[in-house]
Amino acid sequence: MPNVTVVGAQWGDEGKGKIVDWLAARADVVVRFQGGHNAGHTLVVGNTTYKLSLLPSGIVTGTLSLIGNGVVLDPWALKAEIEKLEGQGVKITPDNFAVADTCPLILPVHRELDVMREAAAGKGKIGTTGRGIGPAYEDKVGRRAIRVCDLAHLGELEPQFDRLCAHHDALRAGFGEPPIDRARLLADLTEIAPFVQQFAQPVWKRLRDLRKEGVRILFEGAQGVLLDVDHGTYPFVTSSNTVSGTVASGSGLGPGAAGFVLGIVKAYTTRVGSGPFPTELSDAAGQRLGERGHEFGTVTGRQRRCGWFDAVLVRQSCAISGVTGIALTKLDVLDGFETVKICTGYRLDGQELDHLPASAFEQARVEPIYEEFDGWSETTMGARRWADLPAQAIKYIRRIEELIECPVATVSTGPERDDTILVRNPFAD
Ligand code: GDP
Ligand code: IMO
Ligand code: MG
Repeated sequence: MPNVTVVGAQWGDEGKGKIVDWLAARADVVVRFQGGHNAGHTLVVGNTTYKLSLLPSGIVTGTLSLIGNGVVLDPWALKAEIEKLEGQGVKITPDNFAVADTCPLILPVHRELDVMREAAAGKGKIGTTGRGIGPAYEDKVGRRAIRVCDLAHLGELEPQFDRLCAHHDALRAGFGEPPIDRARLLADLTEIAPFVQQFAQPVWKRLRDLRKEGVRILFEGAQGVLLDVDHGTYPFVTSSNTVSGTVASGSGLGPGAAGFVLGIVKAYTTRVGSGPFPTELSDAAGQRLGERGHEFGTVTGRQRRCGWFDAVLVRQSCAISGVTGIALTKLDVLDGFETVKICTGYRLDGQELDHLPASAFEQARVEPIYEEFDGWSETTMGARRWADLPAQAIKYIRRIEELIECPVATVSTGPERDDTILVRNPFAD
């Protein structure tokens, strides 16, 4: 049975949640494999809008939803999100939801450190979501993390708490903050432990068994390839690998599990937080993209920066993440523009570049080379058949395919689940 991996191919917020929700009806299990509750995935089903940060988007259709070991898990955020969704009528039980027992926990101390660092960095800040993602991944790699499985052994964790506190107390002292209140942390963890433990299991084993039954697995990436800690616009990135290859290490299945890699690509470009953005617009066109696209962050409510489609970046993302086909989203936002532009290359110091250079200094200085198109006055909003798209919109899509060297598998024309045109079914490949 073929699997599908959904990854963002820009700087996040490409519409992954919408596409995962739509594909979930065709899948048997949905798996998150990296990131944490820095993600904000929006699903619109009829009159109801669901905003998910930590839970896999399959949960809304009732599809079995798993959080793999590659995710950093804030237990309190998990509880709050489950309660919020239950309030919207979504059933979440150990029968349809599980978390890996090896997930590192995001603790209050991580969130505090994230926020303190950003405040101290002033203009040089990364613009993080303030959820403690970076510090939690640092502790995982530094072997100081408290993990989901540790919740069953809180009375025996002295050495691990020693390691954690030795590291954090020194950092906190540098910010003029008191040391970690160990008694309070232990009490808080003891209180939340049973809630998390009811969902905890070896997710790798569950997936192995499911795979033997020939189920279709849908992997749900968070963030986007340009926020990948290795391949993104470092240091203005998140702290995990967001590329499709992380499916293997972040869920416990081998590298062959990813299947069809569906890159989610917005028909223009947005970014939230700091960092280079070659096609960013500060004019009326940029403002119009933001307004028509409702470009405000799902997690932090921050205004997203907007710009023209950057084919250089998406071609790079597709190559790095092994994208099989793309889902082009938010095409409707471009309706009514007199002209639309696509960035086809960069200019730097008199030279032409066909890729984004590695250095942040050069990334900040590249100038986009544009191809200009006539726009379309017809509406594509809610179009559900290829034949319903205006000729100019089709021309725009075909040019994007050519430039990014990757075919379109689906086109999204509205936030609602079924505002989707299927060109090529990723599960049928
Ligand atoms: P994600 O993080 O990749 O899941 O994306 P977000 O949910 O953060 O942001 C995408 C936003 O665009 C959400 O508000 C979606 O409801 C909305 N959206 C998704 N696809 C479309 C589309 O094709 N057209 C329009 N107009 N909105 C869309
Ligand atoms: P989804 O899954 C857009 C950005 C932050 C910041 C950088 C680091 O909804 O696409 P972090 O809190 O991860 O340490 O912040 O990454 N960022 C996102 N931007 N969409 C996301 O998720 C993001 N998750 C993190 O704005 O620039
Ligand atoms: Mg988002």
